[in-house]
Parts: sequence; structure tokens; C-alpha cells
Amino acid sequence: MVKVTIDDIQIEVEEGTTILNAARQIGGDVVPPAMCFYSKLPGTGGKCRTCLVEVAAGSEKDPRPMPKLVASCSTPVMDGMVVKNKTSERVHENRGGIVEFLLINHPLDCPICDQAGECHLQDLGFEHGKSATRYKEKRRTFDPITIGNKIKLHMNRCILCYRCVAVANQLTDKRVHGVLHRGDHAEISTYIENVIENDFSGNMIDVCPVGALTDKTFRFKSRVWFLKPMEASCSCSKCSGKAVVWMFGNEIYRVTARKDKYGEVESNEDGKTAWICNECRFDKKDASKWSIEGPRTINRHSVISQNHYTSDRKITDKKLN
Ligand code: SF4
Ligand code: FES
Repeated sequence: MVKVTIDDIQIEVEEGTTILNAARQIGGDVVPPAMCFYSKLPGTGGKCRTCLVEVAAGSEKDPRPMPKLVASCSTPVMDGMVVKNKTSERVHENRGGIVEFLLINHPLDCPICDQAGECHLQDLGFEHGKSATRYKEKRRTFDPITIGNKIKLHMNRCILCYRCVAVANQLTDKRVHGVLHRGDHAEISTYIENVIENDFSGNMIDVCPVGALTDKTFRFKSRVWFLKPMEASCSCSKCSGKAVVWMFGNEIYRVTARKDKYGEVESNEDGKTAWICNECRFDKKDASKWSIEGPRTINRHSVISQNHYTSDRKITDKKLN
């Protein structure tokens, strides 16, 4: 075990743990944001730079500070390391710069984007963004690409985090999707316009931190904050059948996997990630196909968790009269 101090809180973690995972073990606002790292998808991280932190002391043996900010998702802790996240001015300034970079090409179309309310970039922009852009150059634009009848790709919203590529690599049996080209020309595409038709391809929608990949069966039907997320399960031969159904009245508008406070798909009791199959996600919109277990609390810092009545105060008959 090694000792690490993050924002003045000391914790002991296993050797090899990254700074980000050590911070997640502490929890709360000590945890740096992460747009490309996804703990359930090995190999992700190191692309977006939103998780940069300051290392004020490298280790017990060599307590010199690291000169540059480091990516907390891919830097392992050392015994005696001292890390600053929310307590570092440099980190705040830098995160503002990263948001500015991410928004260079990303359109501010939240009012018509289905991801609004669940978008990690929207939240990050709200916390660290500037009120005006300094970017005067032409933004990237793309011809529309069809990637199947269930998933919609808006390439101009993509921040090239590569999470969906990891889903394609690790969850689907026949990968037809990836990033073509490099630098400013890089884009998500399907090889020679092949459509994505794997049983688990819909999970790309759940891992996409922005609105670049959205559910065609839900597009423009409602805003997420108007819907009631309910925990539901069904007997499914392909996946765990444990999902969240988003309801309006008795109607199911969309189905997603169950996600934790970091926006990541939760694990089942057996420790396996509870990815859901395309049949559960896209085809089971009939409430009779699900056993509804009860309301789902959305822990993530998001507009969906706002304006919910949480008080236990009972309204007595007297008050109603
Ligand atoms: S489409 Fe979404 S998940 Fe895929 S690389 Fe772009 S932002 Fe990431
Ligand atoms: S989350 Fe660490 S670089 Fe993206």
C-alpha cells in the first residue's frame, strides 16, 4: 500500500493505482473530471487532458514537485505523493484552457442536442468555461455519415475521446468503426460506410461524453429532465437485463444502462459491467416487458438531479384543504 495526499486528504491505496482512482476512493469534489477515461474500458484515458492535476511532491524519496501538470487518469501514485486538484490555481486556469480547446469545434447547440442535461462537456463548460470565444477560424464541418438505423452520429460534436472506439474493440464481435485520419482531420467513421450492427453497439451512446452519438429511437422526443428515470429489469438472454427506463407517465421514452455518479455504467453483483444489449435498449419500449423496481436517483452533478422534491415533509390533509 502507498500513501498519497490529495487536496490535503491522505489516503492509502494499492500500488499502481492512478491519481484519478485514488481521488475517486476519497470521493466528492476532490475527484478531477474525466472526459476520455472510462474505468470499465481498459486502455482509455490520456486523450482529453481534463483530468490534469498538480503534483506538489513526487514521492517520499524524491519530494520535488513535477514541473508540468500531469494527467491523473494515467499517472500512478507514489508513496508520499502530494497532489493538488481543487486547491491548485494552476489546475483551475488550465482546465479553463482545456474547455476552451474542446469547444473550438464543438457547437453550442445544447438547446437542440439530446445529450443536454447529461453532457459532461456542458457541465465542464458551466464550471470552467469562458463567456466568450476567442476562436475566429472556421469550425470543422462534416458531411453526414449513416452508421445504422439506431445510432446517430453528429461528428461536429465529437471530442475524439476514443471511448466509443474502445466499446467497438472490446464489446462488439465485428468492429467496423474507428477514427480515420489524424489531427484536425480526425473523425469517427465506419469502415467504407459499414453500419454498426452488433448486439452491444448501443453502449457507444452511453459512453459518449457529449452528444456525438445519440439514440435515434429517442431523438427529439423529450428533454431528459422531463422524464422519470426508473430502475427496471427484464429477463434477457443477451445481457443482464438491468437498465434504467426513462418514463413520461406510463410510456417508456428511452432505455439506458444504469450509470454511477461518474456517468459510467455500473457493475453487477458478479463484478461484471452491466452493459445492456441493443434489444433491451432500442426495442423494449413497452412497459409490460419490464418489471419496474422504483425511481432511480441520479447522483451525477447534472441538471437532471435538479428541481426534484426531496423533502420528507408530509402534506397533511389540513394543509391541502
Ligand atoms: S463519438 Fe463520442 S465517444 Fe466517440 S470519440 Fe467522439 S466524443 Fe468520444
Ligand atoms: S480523463 Fe485523463 S486525459 Fe482524459
